[in-house]
Amino acid sequence: KQEKTLAMIKPDALQSFGSILAAVEAAGFTVGRLRMCHLTLADAEGFYAVHAGRPFFGPLTAFMSSGRIVAMELLAPGAIRKWRQLLGPTNTATARQEAPNSLRARFGSDNTRNACHGSDATETAAQEAAFFFKQPVGRCCTTTN
Ligand code: CMP
Repeated sequence: KQEKTLAMIKPDALQSFGSILAAVEAAGFTVGRLRMCHLTLADAEGFYAVHAGRPFFGPLTAFMSSGRIVAMELLAPGAIRKWRQLLGPTNTATARQEAPNSLRARFGSDNTRNACHGSDATETAAQEAAFFFKQPVGRCCTTTN
């Protein structure tokens, strides 16, 4: 069944945008809406609010607001699972061992700087897409674009 997920290329992998887009196309996704922006710390805290209080929340939100990101909607049958499969495990070291061709193995560097994000379920995919594409410009991505 055709499905939509929200993918993000994180600041550490923005320089590899071309290679990541090629992998997206090769895997058979259709790219829907796409936006490049520089999140403020508040934006990143909002996007990752579900992780507030976790020990990695501070480093994660600082990293995610440290440079530009690309957010895009990816469409494919089973897109949520399919994209997470292409991403590989969250931790880059694990990804290198278990899924050496995955995007995190190829472009990530540790557990926080792991190249890309993907929604984990239908509801979060819809919420995350709304974060980037349903708010008036200025309500998210306040720094750039
Ligand atoms: P992401 O798919 O964007 O979802 C939440 C992010 O938090 C995750 O990728 C990592 O970047 C980060 N993260 C998750 N778990 C940890 C962890 N144990 N230590 C550090 N960062 C983490």
